[in-house]
Amino acid sequence: MKTYDKFLDYYEEVVRWINSPLEDEVAFLHEDCIMEYNPEAKSILELACGTWTVAKEFVKLGYDVTGLDINEKMLEKAKKNLSKNDLVLADMTDFDLDKTFDVVLCNYNSICHLLTWEEWKKFFSMAYKHLKKDWILIFDINTLFEFESITRDFAQFYTFWDDVVCLEMFKKTGYFEWLIKIFSHKEWSDFELITEVVKENSFPISKIEKELKETWFELLEKVDYHYGKVFAESERVYFIWKKS
Ligand SMILES: C[S@@+](CC[C@H](N)C(=O)[O-])C[C@H]1O[C@@H](n2cnc3c(N)ncnc32)[C@H](O)[C@@H]1O
Repeated sequence: MKTYDKFLDYYEEVVRWINSPLEDEVAFLHEDCIMEYNPEAKSILELACGTWTVAKEFVKLGYDVTGLDINEKMLEKAKKNLSKNDLVLADMTDFDLDKTFDVVLCNYNSICHLLTWEEWKKFFSMAYKHLKKDWILIFDINTLFEFESITRDFAQFYTFWDDVVCLEMFKKTGYFEWLIKIFSHKEWSDFELITEVVKENSFPISKIEKELKETWFELLEKVDYHYGKVFAESERVYFIWKKS
């Protein structure tokens, strides 16, 4: 069972439409990241592409997109969104496409699904290997501050038709854990309870910057997705790096 297998039917609504409207994200990624730092870019490798939601918008904008994800069910959904572009079932910490791209993108804090620093370092080296020299890597994180805050928040509830989805986050030793409860309506007052656990982690911004600078990336910009300037209480931070 892979992360999000059970949550998949509700994932698009909760993740994309309620928490982070797609059009805002795509406008930010396209105008403020790619057009700003790499306007000549034509090819994009999207790591942890999920259901191809973001990739699809980049295809519409004329990019040649390759998507990679570890979850075959995500990719099955992605195929429905697909025209001619490529999908790869693989772990973003260990793959070899024998090809380089103008942009490597890992969006919606997907890197936080990697729980150990060793895995984050493998991710950085995979991105480096698949990126053309002088071109860009874009990824975002949920900060440690954000994860700590969510653990103190009340549970989040979402209603979909007759089903209810409840999300809660707990702090574990060395990582954070979403407990997802889906109350799936059967008939009358009968509900089936389906649970899924999704583990995530983050690391200090200073540690990420130090590591990437030491592995031949140049930091072009780091930006708080909501407020612009990164500060101690930033929740979601994007990094734009150039392979030097
Ligand atoms: C929050 S979703 C984001 C999907 C997409 N980036 C978006 O913006 O809609 C996280 C994705 O990361 C994928 N994922 C988690 N661990 C992975 C790994 N080690 N390698 C590749 N994909 C992974 C999951 O399968 C899931 O599709």
